[in-house]
Order: sequence, then structure tokens, then C-alpha cells
Amino acid sequence: QTVYLNDYQQPAYWIDKTELEVDIYSGETFVRSRLTMRKNSSIEGAQLDLHGEGLELLEIAIDGEPLSEERYVQGPSVLSLTPETEKFVLETKVRIEPEQNTSLEGLYRSRTMYCTQCEAEGFRKITYYLDRPDVMSDFTTRVSADKSRCPVLLSNGNLVEAGSLDNGRHFATWHDPHKKPAYLFALVAGDLAKVEDSFTTCSGKQVALEIFVEEKDLGKCDHAMQSLKKSMQWDEQTYGREYDLDIFMIVAVDDFNMGAMENKGLNIFNTSCVLASPTTTTDAGFQRVEGVVAHEYFHNWSGNRVTCRDWFQLSLKEGFTVYRDSEFSADMGSRTVKRVEDVSLLRTHQFAEDAGPMAHPIRPSSYMEISNFYTLTIYEKGAEVVRMIANLLGPELFRKGTDLYFERHDGQAVTTEDFVRAMADVSGRDFSQFDNWYNQAGTPELTIVDAYDENAREYTLTVSQYTPATPECAVKKPFHIPLRMGLIGEAGELALTLADEIAEDLPEDNTDRVLEVTQTTQSFVFHNVPEKPVPSLLRNFSAPVKLKYDYSRDDLCAIVMRDSNGFTRYEAVQSLCMAAINDAMAAGEGGRFVLDERLPRVYRSLFAQAELDQAMFAYMLTLPAEGYIAEQQSEIDPQAIYQARSKVKSALAQALAGELEQTYRALSVDVEYSADAESIARRSLKNVCLSYLMDQPSDATLELCKTQFETATNMTDEIAALTAMVMSENAKAQAAAAVALSDFYVKWRDEALVVNQWFALQARNPAAGGLKRVNDLLQHEAYDSSNPNKIRAVIGGFCGGNTPNFHSLGETPEQGGYAFLAQQIQQLDAKNPQIAARLLTPLTRWRRYAPAYSQAMRSQLEALLEMPSLSPDCYEVVSKSLA
Ligand code: ARG
Ligand code: ZN
Repeated sequence: QTVYLNDYQQPAYWIDKTELEVDIYSGETFVRSRLTMRKNSSIEGAQLDLHGEGLELLEIAIDGEPLSEERYVQGPSVLSLTPETEKFVLETKVRIEPEQNTSLEGLYRSRTMYCTQCEAEGFRKITYYLDRPDVMSDFTTRVSADKSRCPVLLSNGNLVEAGSLDNGRHFATWHDPHKKPAYLFALVAGDLAKVEDSFTTCSGKQVALEIFVEEKDLGKCDHAMQSLKKSMQWDEQTYGREYDLDIFMIVAVDDFNMGAMENKGLNIFNTSCVLASPTTTTDAGFQRVEGVVAHEYFHNWSGNRVTCRDWFQLSLKEGFTVYRDSEFSADMGSRTVKRVEDVSLLRTHQFAEDAGPMAHPIRPSSYMEISNFYTLTIYEKGAEVVRMIANLLGPELFRKGTDLYFERHDGQAVTTEDFVRAMADVSGRDFSQFDNWYNQAGTPELTIVDAYDENAREYTLTVSQYTPATPECAVKKPFHIPLRMGLIGEAGELALTLADEIAEDLPEDNTDRVLEVTQTTQSFVFHNVPEKPVPSLLRNFSAPVKLKYDYSRDDLCAIVMRDSNGFTRYEAVQSLCMAAINDAMAAGEGGRFVLDERLPRVYRSLFAQAELDQAMFAYMLTLPAEGYIAEQQSEIDPQAIYQARSKVKSALAQALAGELEQTYRALSVDVEYSADAESIARRSLKNVCLSYLMDQPSDATLELCKTQFETATNMTDEIAALTAMVMSENAKAQAAAAVALSDFYVKWRDEALVVNQWFALQARNPAAGGLKRVNDLLQHEAYDSSNPNKIRAVIGGFCGGNTPNFHSLGETPEQGGYAFLAQQIQQLDAKNPQIAARLLTPLTRWRRYAPAYSQAMRSQLEALLEMPSLSPDCYEVVSKSLA
């Protein structure tokens, strides 16, 4: 059943106070709830419909009077009754079985602990409730459990009481002074160790910081703790946001559907997003921990203090919070590098989502299963939309806008319109057209043509926008698109003067401009342009659009050499790579492909630029991802893309052999590990060089790689060397990889997060026979089919990162990668529908593939749709994909 934004109505009742007693026993848990409720006078009708799923109702009473069975109706997901008074206390007692809960939603058991995940609609698996974000309540939670098995008992807010009980049990009572919706509720009980620290807020309050982990992981909390303190300080300085409780806790859980969850005062994290140590965690892992810790912390204001009215507003908190964490990471490391990373993610994965059957606006107007809408669109595109607002307003006004938003809506459940209204109110700007970013899906294509009039010294950019149809809307209204640009002349950047501007009023270094594109087609005329320039367009990726301008390779070289904007220079190199990949694709499988010499020439000059940021150079050297290349095709042939990309990589490896080896050697200096931006940059450039060198390695190069693998003192270098061996198609490299992989497992078998990386790497091994290998991995002693991280590593790694094998069709429909995925989904769906639905993604894009692939994917989807027990999660994705 579909839920529509337009059907939104306030709840018939409010819950002023929520008192819970959760008594955990081995195999069963009892939850008593005491809800102080009040009729919402603005809603007609007195019926009270409480959400509840998989609950065994043991008791129910109103104002202390047990309700007889004819007073309520119990359905599979709703309990209905009609209270006789406007104010009353509803008490229920239910029995649940967290040990049997494999969905990892609600209260469940992970290894030695009990924990919760309530967003979006998991609280209803704990007790009967109005499980919707506009019902905000004051929570008191008393948890009890066996003292030796669960010495630690946590919930939101501040600890108010704790003590011993009979039979070796104990309890703790927590009270959260801030009203909150049920999705922010959390409870943890288990045998956990903790790391403690503290933070003094800007107004001088001491906040206790605690990170709870399994004893064995105590040594891996430092980076998360430092990240947390930096986040707290950054949010005070950048947004004026101070923390609001005496304690802030983080708990690390090994079985977790997502990255982490911002429960009030008690964030729960996937171990992969909180634990970090140099020997077990890569640089990317360190950065992820910093980013996710910040993200969840920032939610305390953008999400918790000001929350969402309904789940259509999800991007209100997620888009804004991703924007906030991304700016934080930019401030902690390199701004341009962070921008390149964010944009790559968006263009590789969000663009594909926007062009597929699940495309939705950042504020969707309908959904079947909200879990399916925790998407790159809501998160990353949502962040891009906030970024556009911030850039349109400029830093001071944007800060005024966020101040107003937080002040005006503190303690409320609001909408994306409320957010935009605050921005409009402080700036006096009209956001009515900008709103299309919130209610239209699809990626706009911005086609730009230019003309130079030598005599008039006039340069004209004509900009047209077109957005392809998406399932929810065929014809799009034009978007308001901020187009940041400059003009590059022979000697550098040119000053910009538009028709209605007076040159004397403009600043001296007037070489950078934001054009506001609002029409379907629109021209911008620049005056006093002394020569025909090369336009530098969409600087910093100023809007989430596909840019179409017919750059020649020489234009691109000019940008790489002369543009002051780091992002655009990166972009120009990527475009040169794309041109080479297109050449390789045009040459066809057996055809002769000659690398255009301008690409290696550009790289050679970059190798020679000492001042170039090494992280940026590493990204420039990295060929566009297959997913990004696929987005540029009208019909996707995944094997052809893979082959073409490999050919370009080999050709570059050959052309740049000297520079690559020299750089690799120069950067292979053994220094103590540090996760600062500069050290990360050095390692990433070194390891990109290594991956090229390993394409067709000499014996000496192979030795270099093996030596790096064997002597590395940090996981980044260790796994980069292993990856270079595994991903190489060279036979000697593959032989070395086999030995290294087994040594690696022996060394790291006790470190779950390292084993996950080992799984993922093997799942991505492009060598023939991948299907057999991935099936073997599923049988491996370390594999666990109920742990989402392992599932993502093996099945996600294979289906999302192993083109030659995943897209091998097999002789019959029962064979091949697609059939493998469908079988896995079928098995997983019964246990964990959220994870199963996510794994479906690669199949859903079937329409965009060449016929043989397309048909094979489609037939797997059709078979899945026939499954009688398909979860609502998977049903939504499969049915929409086939519609
Ligand atoms: N709010 C969490 C975050 O952004 C993610 C929660 C995901 N929940 C879900 N049901 N998919 O950090
Ligand atoms: Zn979030």
C-alpha cells in the first residue's frame, strides 16, 4: 500500500509522556508502557490507532482499568480503540523476542548485546505506539536485565536511578528532558567496555563523552573520540549550536543495517563507522569514521531538536546534515578533495538512481516502504540542494537563515518548506522556482553553446536545460540552476562583465561568476572579451546537473593548465580520460586502440608540478568509475565499458611507466602513520601509482608490491598492495595475489572489520571464475549471512564491483551473476528485508542495458515478483522496476 504526502493529517492523539519498562530475559523481553495521552482537538474522530508489529499483547488498560477484548481491535500492524475521555493514561504490556529478530529493526540482539534501531518505523516492533515523527514525547525508560550478562544498561538522556534487583538482576532508569519522536529512542544492554572523555561547551558546561565497545575493541576508539570533540567544537563555531545534555554516548554494534543512528544522546554505530586503528583501518576508513561521527552528532540539532513532520521530509534532516558533515570534513582536510569525492559519489550513484525506476524527488510525494527511501537522492542530492541555497545566500545570510530555522522550529516537527522559508525570510529571495529541486526528480541536462564576436568583443553563452522524464513526472518545469563559471584566455583568466554591469563597479579580480539559469533557454553576453576564451563551467559543481559542452581536447588541456579552480581542473582531466575511454570503446573489443597523446602529456606536466595537492593528483590519475562511464551512455554495455577502461589504464601505465615508478619510489618513505590530510594524500598518490605499475608488472615491480604488502605498518598500504595484485590481470600478479590473500586471512582472521575488507576485495576480483569464488566465500568459516557488513562485502562487492563476473550471462537463465543475485535476495529477504531490498539495485537498472543483459536482468526480477512471500520492501523495488 502506498502512502501519499497529500494525505498528511495530524495524529488524533498526542503522547505527552512515555514511560517504558523494558525487562530483558534470555529469549524473551517484556515491555510495559505507560502513555499519558491527550486528544488532538484539531482532528475529528476519537479512534486511536496504535502501531505495533510482532508484539504479543499481554495486558492493556486505560487509567488503570483493564480493557475487555471488545474494547479494542488487534490487526497485524495496528491496535485500534476508542478512548472515552480526552486525557487518559494508556498502559500496555507486551512480550517480544529480540533474539529472534533478524530484521535488525526494533530491539534485537547482536553478539553479546541488545540494541535498538527505530528509524524509521522500528519502534512499533518494541511496543504499541503512535510511531510517527510528529508525535513528540518526554521519555523515561527503565531497563532491567541480568547483571552479569548485561552489566551496561543505557537509554536516552540522563541517568536518574540505578540499582540491584533480585535474582542477579539490576536496573537503570534514564530520563530524556527533550521531547522526541519514537524514531530517536534507543536502548542498549550488554557486556560493554567504555572509553571516556569530556568536552566543555562554549557556555562552559561539562559534557561526559562515552564510547561503548566490546572489550577487545577498546584500543580502536581514539579516532572517533577526537572526531566527536572536533565536531562539537565545529558546530559551535560554524552554526552556533551547543550540545544540550550532560552526557553523549556512542555504542558500536557489529550487526547494523546502516552506518549509524542519531538517537538522542545515545548514538548507535555500525562498528565499521566508529572503530579505527592504523593497522586495521584504511585511510578511507578513518575519514569515514570522522564523517559519520560528525554526521550523527550534527543531527542533534538538524534532526533531533528540529525534526521531520513526516517521512516525506526525510531530506530536511538528512540533506542538511550531509551538507553539514561535508563542510566539516572540508574544514578538517582539503576542501577541493572533499568536493571531488562528494561529486564523484553523486555522479556515479545518485545520477543512476535519478535515471532509474526508483527515481524520486528529494521530497518524495509517495512511498510504499520508507526504508527504501534512505537513498543517495535524499542524502546526497538533498545536500547539494542545501549547498545551492548556501551558495546563493553567501555565508553570512546562510548562517542567519540557519539561526532563524533553529530558533523558530526548536522542539518542532517541520517540513522542507519551513527550512526554505527561513532562508527566504532572511534573504528576501524568492525561492518559488527553486522549489522544483524539492518536488521534481531527475537530473537536469545543461547544454551550453558559445559564440565569440571578435569585432564586438562579445562572448555569448547560451544555456539550455532539459530534464528527462522520471516515473513520477513526465514533463519538468525548468530548475533554478546556479552556474558558476569563468573564462580562460591564452594568458590566464579573463575579467567578466555582463551586459547590464558597469565594468568600473566590478572588483579587480573579477574572474569568477555565478550565472542564475532559470529559463529553458537563456543567453548570457559578456562584454569586452579580448579573445576567444575557453569557458570554465560548473565550477565546484555548483548544481547537480549533467553539463554538456562540446570541449575539444585542446580546450580541456587549457583548463588543466590555466584554470584557477581546482575542481574544474580535475574535471577537465576526467573529461580527457572519458574521451580516451570513448576512443577505446569505439575501437571495439579486438580493435586497435591508440591513446591520444594529449592525456599522457597532461599527466606528465602534472607529475612535474610540485605544488599540486597529492590527493588531487591521485584523483586526477584515477580513471572515471565504471558507473560514471555508464551514466554517459545511451545504452549500457558493461563488459565493453570494463574493457575500454582497462585498455586506457594499460595504455597509460605504459606511457607513464617512468613517472609512475619514480613517483612511487619517491613516496615510499616509511614514516609513522598519521591520518592527517597530507599523509593520506601521499599514500593515496603512491598507491594509485602502484596500481598502474601492477597492470603489467616487471618482476622487479611485482617484488616492490610484495614488499609493500609484507612490510606495511598500516592497513592502507597493506591492502593497497594486496588490491593491486588481486585486480591486476597479469598472471604472475594473480599468482602472487593468491598467496597473499591466504597469508592475509591468517594474519587478520580475528579482526572482523579487516576480514570484511578481505571478503570485499575477493568478491571484486575480475579474473574468470568469479561466480565460483563468490559462492566459496559464502561458505567460508568467517562468513555470516546475518551480518549486513559481511553481506555487503561479499554480495554487494561482487554485484557492484565485479563487472566481468557479475555481468556474465551464463548458458541458461539459472546461471550467471544475475541469477546468483536473485537467489541471494530470495534467501535474505526472509531474514532482513531492508538489506535484501538494497541489494536489488543493480538489477533495477535493466532498462538502460544492451538487450542481452537487459532481458536477463528483467527475467530475474519477474521471477522475484512471483515469490509469494516477497517482503513489502522488495515488492516495492521489484514492482516499480518492472512497471
Ligand atoms: N538517520 C540515520 C542516519 O542518517 C540513518 C537511519 C537509517 N534507517 C533506516 N531505516 N534506513 O545517520
Ligand atoms: Zn543522517
